Amino acid sequence: MTLTLDVNGERHVLEVDPTRRLLGVLRDDLALTGAKLGCGEGACGACAVLLDGVPVVSCLLPVGAIAGRSVTTIEGLGETATSLQQAFVTEDALQCGFCTPGQVVSATALLQATSQPSRDEIRVAMAGNLCRCGAYPKIERAILRASGRAVT
Ligand code: FES
Ligand code: FES
Repeated sequence: MTLTLDVNGERHVLEVDPTRRLLGVLRDDLALTGAKLGCGEGACGACAVLLDGVPVVSCLLPVGAIAGRSVTTIEGLGETATSLQQAFVTEDALQCGFCTPGQVVSATALLQATSQPSRDEIRVAMAGNLCRCGAYPKIERAILRASGRAVT
């Protein structure tokens, strides 16, 4: 199947099996390896990308179902993500870092929708992103810091 996909603002015309998952197309065909394969079952969020601005798990998404739509990966996020990544470093919000790209993608979507989220709003928005290293309190602090809220 030939399909068109906008990825990080660039139009791609792909010849692909439409049942292939978006994560595999991003990593193997487009060399965008920021999104990670964790569980492969939609449960961990390591593969999160934005689809028309909304966070989705790319490991479950058949690429044929999203023809013509717009995908943003961690590589294509803008200024909000840069601030978030700096805040993750400042707050020491990662250990192995495997979950971090997905965390930053979901947090970017949150801050784009709600510039000053509460702690509860952060917890709800980040509920689909697991961290096997258990960095959750520091991840929450990093998102607060990136939103310009006082971190206590
Ligand atoms: S790898 Fe996609 S949700 Fe875990
Ligand atoms: S920092 Fe290791 S999985 Fe989150």
